[in-house]
Amino acid sequence: MYWNWKTIIEPFKIKSVEPLGFTAASQRKKILEEMHYNLFEIPADKVLIDLLTDSGTSAMSAEQWASIMRGDESYAGARSFYVFQKVVREITGYPEVIPVHQGRAAERILFSIIGGKGKCIPANTHFDTTRANVEVSGAQALDLPVSQAWDFDTPGPFKGDMDVQALEGILEKRGKDIPLVILTVTNNSLGGQPVSMRNIRDVSRVCRKYKVPLFLDAARFAENAYFIRLREPGYADKTPEAIAREMFSHAEGCLMSAKKDALVNIGGFMAMKDKRWADRAREVEIVGEGFPTYGGLAGRDLEAMAQGLREILEEEYLQYRLRSVEYLGEGLRKHGIPIVEPPGGHAVYVNAKKFLPHIPPGRFPAQALACELYLESGVRAVEIGSLMFGKHQNGKFTPAKMELLRLAIPRRVYTQSHIDFVIEVFGELAKRKKKIRGLKILEVPPILGHFTAKLTPV
Ligand code: F0G
Repeated sequence: MYWNWKTIIEPFKIKSVEPLGFTAASQRKKILEEMHYNLFEIPADKVLIDLLTDSGTSAMSAEQWASIMRGDESYAGARSFYVFQKVVREITGYPEVIPVHQGRAAERILFSIIGGKGKCIPANTHFDTTRANVEVSGAQALDLPVSQAWDFDTPGPFKGDMDVQALEGILEKRGKDIPLVILTVTNNSLGGQPVSMRNIRDVSRVCRKYKVPLFLDAARFAENAYFIRLREPGYADKTPEAIAREMFSHAEGCLMSAKKDALVNIGGFMAMKDKRWADRAREVEIVGEGFPTYGGLAGRDLEAMAQGLREILEEEYLQYRLRSVEYLGEGLRKHGIPIVEPPGGHAVYVNAKKFLPHIPPGRFPAQALACELYLESGVRAVEIGSLMFGKHQNGKFTPAKMELLRLAIPRRVYTQSHIDFVIEVFGELAKRKKKIRGLKILEVPPILGHFTAKLTPV
């Protein structure tokens, strides 16, 4: 194996390439002004290295492209559905498999069935769309991460874990209002940190005691599985697939955005044990998403997902994946950039609150840093802070607890030199961080406002 070499070997060679979007600094300054300092508004061909998200941005393999040609586009009962269903069943062990066009479609369907006013959905931490779908249904999204998750400076092996005691407390008090508990593996909102098998098992035990089903938000299940292999006693000799299967075995079902750990550009699914919930989900699905054997996708997308789900569990890939994200974290640390420790599975999160202490949370330090990063280099990243999670209510603004800038690494897309460049840029930003100014909001819609908010420097 190639474990002990210092150089990261990307476990693929490149057959098809795309140019990067080179721009002049003056051009980027103008773009930022015109796009109201919202990086979601920037045309992608004006971005040099795009670390906005790891979602839907993977490079597909030759085998995935080949499987695209095998897609069966029959409206009902397409062969591709059965290929896809078989792989999902093998990995998750869940008999009921429902494809959807992306993760949030699964969330919308599930919470329209089991959410609603008076209900409460606990999770280690809900991601933005999960929270939005829970809240749109009228239910409360309750985050119960372990307290360690909030200590960004101190590394820990499994800071994605859920606070089991707090979960038991809320189940004791409000059990009848809680239709479901969610574990997001890895925890995307708080540093991409993994959840231990031990925690999955403990949460599962408590859920069974109160007869509440546990679902995994499995968007990054393979990365989580590999962290377990590397960090949890007893798993060093197990294959990623065996670990993933064990993770799923402790839950009753999962929601999956296949745009992450299924290496596709679009797709998702929900899978579960309970046939009654699945049948209700299929009824809702037909109304808005599509017939249950294609769920808003083309047959070829199902094929690509099936192939991607196999590839994501390859050991060489996962080894490279986690190591390359860690490498970015090491580079930033060398420039004195405070990051959420340790680096996550899909991203490194810069702690903008600590890096730019002169910018208060109400002035969006992580968004200011995102803009400065773009201005300096054309690199794009995403704010996970008060712009994404702050609350505007009755003219009052409550900031989020964290101000993070997530540098998400698309899968199999960038090489070590690209990452070296990003590290070099941060070296420059560190030199002139005192000059970085905050932002204020001009306009923001009430739900998922960060996607379209308009801002201006103060
Ligand atoms: N769950 C998690 C943990 C996610 O990270 C995402 C999306 C979703 C669900 C929703 O899935 O995008 O396919 O509808 N996260 C993306 C991101 C958008 O950038 O982290 P989707």
